[in-house]
Amino acid sequence: MRCYFIQSAQPVAGNMSENKRKILVTSALPYANGPIHIGHLVEYLQTDIWVRFQKQRGHDCLYVCADDTHGTPIMLKAQQEGVTPEELIAKVGKEHLADFTEFNIEFDRYHSTHSEENRHFAELIYRRQRDEGHIESKSITQAYDPVKEMFLPDRFIKGECPKCGAADQYGDNCEACGATYAPTDLKNAVSAISGEKPVDRDSVHYFFKLSDYSEMLKSWIHAGHLQPEVANKLDEWLTGGLQEWDISRDAPYFGFEIPDAPGKFFYVWLDAPIGYIASFKNLCDEKGLDFDEYWGADSKTELYHFIGKDIIYFHGLFWPAMLEGAGFRTPSAIFAHGFLTVNGEKMSKSRGTFIKARTYLGHLNPEYLRYYFAAKLNGSVEDIDLNFEDFAQRVNSDLVGKVVNIGSRCSGFIKKRFDSTLAAECAEPELFQEFIAANESIAALYENRDYGKAMREIMALADRANQYIDEKQPWVVAKQEGSDAELQAICSVGLNLFRLLVTYLKPVLPKLAEASEQFLNIESQPWPAVATPLCNHKINKFKPLMTRVELDKIEKMVDESKESLKTAEEKPKKPNNPSIEPIAETIEFDDFAKIDLRIAKIIDAQHVDGADKLLQITVDIGDESRNVFAGIKAAYSPEDLIGKLTVVVANLKPRQMRFGLSEGMVLAAGPGGKALWILEPHSGAQPGMRVK
Ligand code: MSP
Ligand code: ZN
Repeated sequence: MRCYFIQSAQPVAGNMSENKRKILVTSALPYANGPIHIGHLVEYLQTDIWVRFQKQRGHDCLYVCADDTHGTPIMLKAQQEGVTPEELIAKVGKEHLADFTEFNIEFDRYHSTHSEENRHFAELIYRRQRDEGHIESKSITQAYDPVKEMFLPDRFIKGECPKCGAADQYGDNCEACGATYAPTDLKNAVSAISGEKPVDRDSVHYFFKLSDYSEMLKSWIHAGHLQPEVANKLDEWLTGGLQEWDISRDAPYFGFEIPDAPGKFFYVWLDAPIGYIASFKNLCDEKGLDFDEYWGADSKTELYHFIGKDIIYFHGLFWPAMLEGAGFRTPSAIFAHGFLTVNGEKMSKSRGTFIKARTYLGHLNPEYLRYYFAAKLNGSVEDIDLNFEDFAQRVNSDLVGKVVNIGSRCSGFIKKRFDSTLAAECAEPELFQEFIAANESIAALYENRDYGKAMREIMALADRANQYIDEKQPWVVAKQEGSDAELQAICSVGLNLFRLLVTYLKPVLPKLAEASEQFLNIESQPWPAVATPLCNHKINKFKPLMTRVELDKIEKMVDESKESLKTAEEKPKKPNNPSIEPIAETIEFDDFAKIDLRIAKIIDAQHVDGADKLLQITVDIGDESRNVFAGIKAAYSPEDLIGKLTVVVANLKPRQMRFGLSEGMVLAAGPGGKALWILEPHSGAQPGMRVK
């Protein structure tokens, strides 16, 4: 028995001890006020593939990310949902991580910007910048909502376009005529939160003097850290002159209070990128890594930020300046990608192409999308298009038709005729060598994020393997007397080539690769710079590795994406009467039927120390009594309530509130405040009766 040992001329990942790189990679931190959708996934998949590739090559590569949790939209969303911002971000953070995990996006750490580490570094960077004279404060005038008692970010002000008069225009541009303007130019402007007319109010804000870093940025953006088109864009901005950056917001604001400025908070974009450092620090503390080796001013490790093209300004200008001035290292490179379109158009809720990660997972294999995005990505900031027909066709023909097919074609004979054992020798050492030799160019393509070309090279190899099998016709050989050795040799070559193909695809298709390794009975495969064919080797039973994309599943996914969002789009997006909240998403009758409403008798009611709106109520709902906190203090005094019958939601999950556990909800109607009436059933009702 003899096996060929084939080594590529220049091993890329052979003995890595000398050129083992230390790399830290990040993806942008998703906002904690919405779900992950397939647009986001372009970025997290692009990054995950790159990180998996580096790890497979034996490099020391770490991938960190976090939820971006601060800011007004998150604060308001929590209020809308009747939870604290902390509760909201904890829930969304878990959902995000679950979505990522099911797409096999593997972080070394997924943290949160609402963390002690992040507070520490935000304060540190701020103090260092301030002490060097790069922070300035001055009073500015802004729109203020006198009812909600808060300053209004642009996107929460609406009014008539100053140019064409279109109603209900938000922020600083008109959807009807495309005009751009200052939000203060809107006519008859109202707060989108309360409907009240905003008033001008002065307040002191803190500014980061970005222009102090003009020289540094000018040389940094041309020092090879950026894609050429990104460097050009930044150059334009630089030439136009750098504005100071407003980094503070007034209370109420969900974020970190500025150390020397009570009532002022860091603007969310100040602490968001610092979240990269915070997440890494959290990992360091657990794993005992050397923090300064990665973030110190003279760090030699590589640092890469993957981002979308919409946030280049923050990462290409503010971020390097913040780091530089505070004594941290700046990024080795920023890798920006384009936006996802679906069937050639912007993702759309009404067309059902605004697809949440969760919805996708309910219908299709995540590896299909991993492969499809890989096949479309090329390392530039061009947008990429997901076309459903092309998606199905490409996955089916490349992965199922070309790659998996080799495994299934060859394994049957090996199992039935050769006791699942591969031939003792590799019959096609040159062909095997050809596959190994391709490793360098494939590696270079992965390295440059030119995944589309990498996939094409790998598929060309798959074509080569299939061509070999077609020429050798093992199914004919199998029927010939005395051709056992030949049959075993052909199928063994086929499986050895299959093994290399799935190993090249491993960064993109980790699950397919893992299942293939299990089937081939081999260890987790490193990058095949050096590989020997499997000879006289026993394999396991072949299990179907991937099934075809079914078009009806795509249709169902699109329908579901339409369904769940239909109401949001069909109804006018924003209410005409701003004091009326928009109607929420439609729910199914079944959802409604889940609500268990019961007649309840109020047996006790008390004021709650420290609560301005709540009363603590004890209700009898037949077999048991419940403790409920109800926001009806302005409308009722406790004495008026005791003895009354009302209706409660009896199966609402108990909720821990600041004042205690609330075990249900009393139904009341009215605009709020004093004008609120609890539901009072007629006196014949008995506590515990179900209300239908
Ligand atoms: N929270 C900020 C990033 C802070 S980084 C310090 C943010 N969040 S986001 O949730 O809006 O977007 C997260 C990433 O996903 C961004 O890089 C963004 O460009 C990317 N994408 C969001 N929608 C996208 C598409 N439709 N297509 C491609 N990428 C998209 O921005
Ligand atoms: Zn207009």
